Amino acid sequence: MTEKAHERETGTLSVNLPGEVEPGSVMSRRRAVGWILGVGGTAVGALLAIPLIRSALYPIFARSRAGTWSNVGSENQYASASTPMRKVLKIVESAGWQKVTSSKVVYVTKGSRRGSLGGIEVLTAVCPHLGCEVQWEDGKKIFYCPCHGSKFAPDGKYLGGPAPRSMDTLPIRVADGQLMVHYEYFRNLVPQKEVIIS
Ligand code: FES
Repeated sequence: MTEKAHERETGTLSVNLPGEVEPGSVMSRRRAVGWILGVGGTAVGALLAIPLIRSALYPIFARSRAGTWSNVGSENQYASASTPMRKVLKIVESAGWQKVTSSKVVYVTKGSRRGSLGGIEVLTAVCPHLGCEVQWEDGKKIFYCPCHGSKFAPDGKYLGGPAPRSMDTLPIRVADGQLMVHYEYFRNLVPQKEVIIS
């Protein structure tokens, strides 16, 4: 005997009233809604994760510009300079299939650290704390970071504040009397200078 016949015989056969829905179809509808919500949630999560992944991988894949040197003018003009001189480099980098030109601030100064050339050093203006632009304060004769107050001597040596190290020097060379600078990127928040893109 089928289930329906048994229900008919025992008087337990139930009839759906207009507007009532079979329990099985309610379950399958719930399952479908759950599936749609699950897929939608996963898709939204994946979209939200893209910027995080990109920022985590930056700058490993974001940019490349092998072996570029920028001319910051005659070497002689720096020999007699008594204070750091601000220069803006135009750097052309490959970002994926695009060429991107960006401006980078550096300071040509006097120093004696490794890498200096006849007493000349070039410092990146990127603060080794969290990357703000360090500025030269002529009145106080120091470099000062406006974000969290780190201070550096005219040759870039650390004087105070949350920065974990001195300002970073860049590779330099002289070609036909012109001072050339190779711009590099350094890791923030570490006590030792660490190049991440050269
Ligand atoms: Fe320069 Fe924080 S970014 S002190």
